[in-house]
Amino acid sequence: MTLILGIETSCDETAAAVLVDGRRLLSNIVASQIDLHRQYGGVFPEVASRQHVLTIRPVIEQALREAQVDWDDLTAVAVTYGPGLAGSLLVGMNLAKGIALARGLPLIGVNHLEGHIYSNWLDPVRPGEPPYEGPRLSEADFPILVLVVSGGHTELLLMRGHGQYERLGGTLDDAAGEAFDKVARLLGLPYPGGPAIQKAAERGDAERFPLPRALLNAPDHPFDFSFSGLKTAVLRLVRELGDPVPVADVAASFQAAVVDVLVSKTIHAAEVTRARHVCVCGGVAANRALREELTRRMPLPYSIPPIWLCTDNAAMIACAGYYRFLAGEKADWDLDVEASARLA
Ligand code: KG4
Ligand code: ZN
Repeated sequence: MTLILGIETSCDETAAAVLVDGRRLLSNIVASQIDLHRQYGGVFPEVASRQHVLTIRPVIEQALREAQVDWDDLTAVAVTYGPGLAGSLLVGMNLAKGIALARGLPLIGVNHLEGHIYSNWLDPVRPGEPPYEGPRLSEADFPILVLVVSGGHTELLLMRGHGQYERLGGTLDDAAGEAFDKVARLLGLPYPGGPAIQKAAERGDAERFPLPRALLNAPDHPFDFSFSGLKTAVLRLVRELGDPVPVADVAASFQAAVVDVLVSKTIHAAEVTRARHVCVCGGVAANRALREELTRRMPLPYSIPPIWLCTDNAAMIACAGYYRFLAGEKADWDLDVEASARLA
């Protein structure tokens, strides 16, 4: 039996999870700092790292307690080394090193984006629920076309095997989640913008305002994205419309533009690369309109994590760490955080 403790502190969630044999969760604790950062309209880095310092120990202890696992039962410790906020990453990294050193456990460094990708390999059942018996990803599904859509990243990658990534393209400016957050602010909606826009859009007409789909048919950039022009278009639209802004219709039209580009490019990339399977992951994968559009249009078999595994968590870090552990990887004690770490 392999028991991995995962630790994640790259941004504004302090998270720890215990995973058995790579796929089944025994615990998954996420302490969100959203309430703390809302007053600033975004993540305040200094406040985030200080909050991680306060929360990380109780969160890890709770993860072990809920998993009914003792320190000595653990096989390895997996921790996010980047990308993310350096001061936040350091808190998780130093605690992971302390635990690994004190208990003689291997330390495994995990790239946060790889963590998001592996959220698709986890059994999609919460700790304590009956064992999962549905379909699972396997090595037979490689090559897998991956779309990572989060607050900091929008990337299309081809995954040829565990830990093997080829970058096809990504955003040239804002990430998809960042666009949601910025447009939300512009519409007077609270942080984080993704869920707020989704909610506002429920009552809106997505076809009322035709907004730009940047690079949709750009031969030079088939797998790249650009969302800053869309943000500017929304800003211009809001100014033209004047008071009161039809928030629901603008939110729905914006969301439809983002979703259309994401889904179209992902399908195109999967077809060009002859991928056998598609994985979508990252915070924006929680978006209902995106999930519905994928169901409607995706011609290939695809996976998307349950909503509670889309946003930042340590379960996905433990899962990616498990596959690195299986491959015989082990970090040195001088493993450092890397704020702009790349996957490929
Ligand atoms: O993966 P994540 O939790 O953190 C990063 O690694 O960045 O992603 C956070 C991002 C935020 O920009 C947030 O607005 C967005 O994911 N997000 C959503 C939804 N839930 C979270 N975007 C659209 N619709 C949602 N339901
Ligand atoms: Zn993330």
